[in-house]
Amino acid sequence: KTNQSWGGRFSEPVDAFVARFTASVDFDQRLYRHDIMGSIAHATMLAKVGVLTAEERDTVIAGLKSIEQEIANGEFVWSTELEDVHMNIEARLTEQVGIVGKKLHTGRSRNDQVATDIRLWLRDEIDVILAEITRLQEGLLGLAEAHAETIMPGFTHLQTAQPVTFGHHMLAWFEMLSRDYERLVDCRKRTNRMPLGSAALAGTTYPIDREFTCELLGFEGVSGNSLDGVSDRDFAIEFCAAASVAMMHLSRFSEELVLWTSAQFQFIDLPDRFCTGSSIMPQKKNPDVPELVRGKSGRVFGSLMGLLTLMKSQPLAYNKDNQEDKEPLFDAADTLRDSLRAFADMVPAIKPKTEMMREAALRGFSTATDLADYLVGKGLPFRDCHEIVGLAVRYGVENEKDLAQMSLAELQQFSIEITEDVFEVLTLEGSVSARDHIGGTAPTQVRAAVLRGRELLQSR
Ligand code: ARG
Repeated sequence: KTNQSWGGRFSEPVDAFVARFTASVDFDQRLYRHDIMGSIAHATMLAKVGVLTAEERDTVIAGLKSIEQEIANGEFVWSTELEDVHMNIEARLTEQVGIVGKKLHTGRSRNDQVATDIRLWLRDEIDVILAEITRLQEGLLGLAEAHAETIMPGFTHLQTAQPVTFGHHMLAWFEMLSRDYERLVDCRKRTNRMPLGSAALAGTTYPIDREFTCELLGFEGVSGNSLDGVSDRDFAIEFCAAASVAMMHLSRFSEELVLWTSAQFQFIDLPDRFCTGSSIMPQKKNPDVPELVRGKSGRVFGSLMGLLTLMKSQPLAYNKDNQEDKEPLFDAADTLRDSLRAFADMVPAIKPKTEMMREAALRGFSTATDLADYLVGKGLPFRDCHEIVGLAVRYGVENEKDLAQMSLAELQQFSIEITEDVFEVLTLEGSVSARDHIGGTAPTQVRAAVLRGRELLQSR
């Protein structure tokens, strides 16, 4: 027998390197609060069904609570020899309260224990992440409202396409984040299922009351099959998938912020507190926060791939492989939460340079489509209008003139249908205001969308 809790059938101690190689306590100790929460519920249930006496239950719970304090205070001594968070806490409990500590694990296995812990942990993480998404969305609504009329160039192929309002652009990001929110809420439902009671793989012979434990822990329901209960990590994969999509959005967002702060665009200013300088070039102010978030998206995609690959081909039920689920999951949650936090802090502080955006929108013939639509209004077929405006743009490029800068006579070279009223259409304001329908860029629509957005956030 060795001094390990499972050492009964062993004739020699585990190799020192193997002990370190197989231990997870360095990274799974962060589950301690949820591990203790699960153990308290389990002990409460065991007393309810008569496996523990009320006195034993109280002793166990008091012990677990004092251990929680020890850990929170940084006084707890973690031991690699005890492998993981679960056995560290159990060993300490027995040290503190004696034999009854050894009764806690009745009707339970580390397999259903760890599956329960991760779900409890992830449920809390998702709630924090959801709150950060909402905070970021509030910031976007604030910018959208303040800049419902601010005009910037809209792009396709990163070439000037048509003018849009800055508020409208902010609301595009708002929409993406709304979908991210929904995906996480959905993932939370499947995370919030209780595998405890599955024991090692087949269930347990004790008269456990899973529904009772489930209620104590606030789970939505119990898992329906013990083999699946201990080995299912779909919820972690789903979380990483949802986190990956959210990081992909933040990465697109980042890319635009990086472009917009550059000397070539100068669309916005980021406050100094979100930027850093260069150790060699005195003039530099680098948009580090968006750059880092753009970069960090890669590690979350990596976590998703890592977990999918971890789970593929695993036979039922629990396998030690599953211990490898934690680091990618933790890292994905940390990365998403921190990225959202940085963005939620930074976005309300974005300073749009409205004059620069306006000037940029005036370059690049951004109202060419409006001129074509104007000619359609005069009864010409759209394809012909496209051709006419194309010729006008070529003339503009050769003579370095935007459409709105041409005289009526110059414009009439391309079509005699063009009359004095064309100039209303060629202005930036005319262009954006004309796109006046749900989802369009008109200032009235931006204001309406901001109101809808506020209602959505209220309803959460
Ligand atoms: N540390 C383990 C994990 O994270 C706990 C479950 C271990 N179960 C076992 N039978 N070895 O997966």
